Amino acid sequence: MEVNEKRYDDMIYRRCGHSGILLPAISLGLWHNFGSVDVFDHFIRIAHTAFDKGITHFDLANNYGPEYGSAEENFGRILKKGLGNYRDELIISSKAGYDMWPGPYGNWGSRKYLTASLDQSLKRMGLDYVDIFYSHRPDPSTPIEETMGALIDIVRQGKALYVGISNYNDEETKAALSVLKDHKVHCLIHQSKYSLFERWVEPRLLPLLEDEGVGLIAFSPLAQGLLTNKYLNGIPDNSRAAKPSGHLQKNQVTEEVVTKVRRLNDIAISRGQTLAEMALAWLLKDERVTSVLVGASSVEQLLDNLKALKHLPFAEEELSAIERVLL
Ligand SMILES: NC(=O)c1ccc[n+]([C@@H]2O[C@H](COP(=O)([O-])OP(=O)(O)OC[C@H]3O[C@@H](n4cnc5c(N)ncnc54)[C@H](OP(=O)(O)O)[C@@H]3O)[C@@H](O)[C@H]2O)c1
Repeated sequence: MEVNEKRYDDMIYRRCGHSGILLPAISLGLWHNFGSVDVFDHFIRIAHTAFDKGITHFDLANNYGPEYGSAEENFGRILKKGLGNYRDELIISSKAGYDMWPGPYGNWGSRKYLTASLDQSLKRMGLDYVDIFYSHRPDPSTPIEETMGALIDIVRQGKALYVGISNYNDEETKAALSVLKDHKVHCLIHQSKYSLFERWVEPRLLPLLEDEGVGLIAFSPLAQGLLTNKYLNGIPDNSRAAKPSGHLQKNQVTEEVVTKVRRLNDIAISRGQTLAEMALAWLLKDERVTSVLVGASSVEQLLDNLKALKHLPFAEEELSAIERVLL
């Protein structure tokens, strides 16, 4: 594998909360487009392009695919074919918390599930450790001490270097951080859905994470593709909304949404950006957002998304125009 010697020149790196870790402002997620239904030659090019452009962080989970586990298997193949030679330049994350295997021990937040699942993930990727291991979602039926206790022990065993939580609201986050603090394990990062269309983190979670020195990585920053120019004129055949395996449903592409997207697209054009670029820049204007975690079904999309970094600041009038669209 040949790599770009200048790969770190154009990327912006941000410190992840109060920690020693810098993350690229744009990270790559493997939820879609890297499964057994996808084409290896195609997605290995996406991964290599990402690395060549300074994207050091690759985000996975046990059940990414489809089929479950296949994104991790495929990422393991990508590592074996050369990217793994750069293991010390990579931040690789995985998670457990959603449905993974049948029976009572393959879902939610028990010590039994988290521990077994990470062991499986490590095998699939051919790794000795992941950099970040997440509890993928809070489990209302399992004591938070048990879920966090599993993460703490996983770190102590060296199977993960850092702990993260995902989809925890502010109250759940406080409870999780309190247990971690009691055991002197720092929570590196919170992974939350955050985009122009999904702003629940703004009032309470972002200030809490800042106070606690926890980074925030925003997932689905393009609302699964809605916040791009892709759905302006209907649903293209090769899009996530059209694919049976895609999590974006056709009925989410409503006239109301598309009208907003058109108006946002006009603002993006007036800034000299694509809508995808503007949607990412809009998140990154807030320094508390450590990284935006994009998906990409092509190298071209990834390159477009990277261009967001060329123009991050917003004029007051642009921000107000965006707010008027989102009202
Ligand atoms: N923690 C959690 O619970 C959770 C949940 C969801 C996601 N995540 C993480 O976040 C990552 C990203 O999520 P996501 O895939 O929903 O992110 P996203 O960036 O909002 O959506 C990615 C999709 O948008 C389209 N796209 C991307 N760039 C484009 C561009 N420049 N122009 C036109 N279309 C573009 C592509 O859709 P097409 O395929 O239609 O081309 C692509 O597959 C996941 O891979 C995963 O790592 C975490």
